[in-house]
Amino acid sequence: MKYTDLINEALRGYMPKSDDIVSRAMKYSIENGGKRIRPALVLSFCEMCGGDIEKAIPLACALEMIHTYSLIHDDLPCMDNDDFRRGKPSCHIAFGYEYALLAGDALLTLAFETALKADLPPDRIIDATKELAIASGWKGMVGGQVIDLQNEGKRVTVEEIENMDKLKTGELIRVACVMGCIAAGRRDLIKSAEEYARCIGISFQIVDDILDVTSDTATLGKPVGSDNENEKCTYVSLLGIEKSKQIVSELTQKAKDELQNFDGDTSFLEEFADLMEQRKN
Ligand code: IPE
Ligand code: IPE
Ligand code: MG
Ligand code: MG
Ligand code: MG
Repeated sequence: MKYTDLINEALRGYMPKSDDIVSRAMKYSIENGGKRIRPALVLSFCEMCGGDIEKAIPLACALEMIHTYSLIHDDLPCMDNDDFRRGKPSCHIAFGYEYALLAGDALLTLAFETALKADLPPDRIIDATKELAIASGWKGMVGGQVIDLQNEGKRVTVEEIENMDKLKTGELIRVACVMGCIAAGRRDLIKSAEEYARCIGISFQIVDDILDVTSDTATLGKPVGSDNENEKCTYVSLLGIEKSKQIVSELTQKAKDELQNFDGDTSFLEEFADLMEQRKN
């Protein structure tokens, strides 16, 4: 993807230089792994809104650190209990539960240290960092993970699943698009960015749930069948694969339609929406 090299290089620069066990666990989880979808959204929204992407890089990296911490904790035995992530043993398998927990904590705090380093006007840094904190916390991603755990073994409604996905996955995707607008100084475009993000966020989780059933571990880089094993209630378990794919198609189209509200170059984000629908991992 267009922004991946830039993101990977910047992320490496922000990682600890030391070699203690938590530093190594942080680097193990963050380096050479992941599709970097959320930071790419920060940079592409910033660019489409006429901003300087170099100045948005700390915000993009901060978000990827939070996402990576969420995956480390999501894989722990007390959560989804998955032993494989990004094509290698999960952090807790490689470093032990206690250091995986702490590596996640350290990535979360490093994220805020990094966001505050952005070379942007102070009001934009404050706005973006506040949005990031809210989207990641109990009203956002963490709140969604709570619902996910509470729904295990239950059959809930489609509306409840939508709400769970909107939080656990959608909030980090939403804040990616919002931070891109803020970095570019275009708060007026946030509403449209949020609608694009709403559609991409829900469809992203539905595709993740489909791949959990239809893919294989080598392609996905993480275990398949995990949702079934944990009795997770998902669009797929509730509506089946075909209906789920249809919803993804509708949401993808809606996301692309929303881009009409931007006057910058929308081509990357149009292709991005299609790519997210067709992705294999
Ligand atoms: C996985 O996210 C977790 C979900 C929200 C479904 P990604 O599919 O973006 O994972 P990486 O970053 O590429 O490993
Ligand atoms: C995770 O959803 C969302 C997070 C906030 C980490 P999943 O539990 O389905 O993600 P994977 O499949 O383990 O990547
Ligand atoms: Mg989970
Ligand atoms: Mg999981
Ligand atoms: Mg999953």
